[in-house]
Amino acid sequence: MPRLAYVDGRIVPLAAASVGVEDRGLQFADGVYEVCAVLNGRLLDWPAHAARLTHNLGELAIRAPMGDAALAMIARRLIAANRATEALLYIQVTRGSARRDHGFPADTRPTLVMTMRPFDFAQRVAQQARGVAAITVPDERWGRCDVKTTGLLANVLAKQHARESGAFEAWLVAADGTVAEGASTNAWLVDHTGTLVTPALTRRVLPGVMRAAVVEAARDHQIPVVERGFTVAEAQGAAEALITSTTAPVLPVVRIDGVAVGGGVPGPATARLASAVWARIADQTGYRP
Ligand SMILES: Cc1ncc(COP(=O)(O)O)c(C=O)c1O
Repeated sequence: MPRLAYVDGRIVPLAAASVGVEDRGLQFADGVYEVCAVLNGRLLDWPAHAARLTHNLGELAIRAPMGDAALAMIARRLIAANRATEALLYIQVTRGSARRDHGFPADTRPTLVMTMRPFDFAQRVAQQARGVAAITVPDERWGRCDVKTTGLLANVLAKQHARESGAFEAWLVAADGTVAEGASTNAWLVDHTGTLVTPALTRRVLPGVMRAAVVEAARDHQIPVVERGFTVAEAQGAAEALITSTTAPVLPVVRIDGVAVGGGVPGPATARLASAVWARIADQTGYRP
C-alpha cells in the first residue's frame, strides 16, 4: 500500500505531508478526530463516524471544513489512491493555524488531515479465541470524554501502562470506583443472569460506534442490555468481561488486574456477540476474517 495522506486539499506522500507549527492541533490539542475501519476497500459505519465528527466539531465550535458528502468523497479517493483493502483511516480536524493565543482566532480555516495505515483485522480473531488482559488506572482525563478530541495524553499514558504490564487495555476508573471505559475501547461485562452491562453514555464515556453496533446486535440476539456503572470488583466477579471498538470489534477480557474473569477463558455471550458483529461487518463490506 503506498503511504499517501490528504492534507488541506491535496493527496501527498505521507513523508511529505505536514501542517504548520502554529496549528492549534499541535499547540493546544484543539481538534477532533475519527478512526474508521476500511475492509475490502470499503468504509465501515461511515454515517455514524461522519455524524459523530460533525457533532464533536459543533461541541468545540470548530467550523466543519466541508459537508459529509465531500468528506466521504475525499476519504474514498484516499482509500483508492492508497489501494487500501484492510486499513484504518484517521481523520483529524483542528481549529486551524493561527498566532498562538488561547482564545479562538477569528476566521481561521480549519485544518483537515486524513492518514491511513494497513491494519490486519484477522489478528483480532486469534485474540478473540484467547481473550486479553486489562489493568485499571485512575481516570485522569478531562470532563468531556464524550467528545473525541485529539487531547489524548491521559489515554496515551494509560495505554502505555497497560503495555508495560503485559495487558492489552487499561480501564479508566473514576474516584467513585466505577469503570468509565478503556483507554481506546468501551468496557462491558456480562453478569451471572446473562445481561450485558456497559456504562451509560455520560460525559465520562465516548459514544463508541462499535458500542452502538454491539447494543443493536445484543438486542437482535435477545441478549438483555443494561446501561449502568459497574466497579472493578463487579467486573472481576462477572461471568464475562469484554471491550469493543472499531479497531477491536469485540474482545473478551479474561484477566483484570491479574484476577481471572469467568475462569480466565472467553465466555459464550462474548463469542455470540463477536460472531454477530463479524456478520454485520461482512454484510456491510463483504469482509470475512
Ligand atoms: C476513549 C475511547 N473509548 C471508546 C472508543 C471506541 O470507539 P469506536 O467504537 O467508535 O471506535 C475509542 C476509540 O478510539 C476511544 O478512544
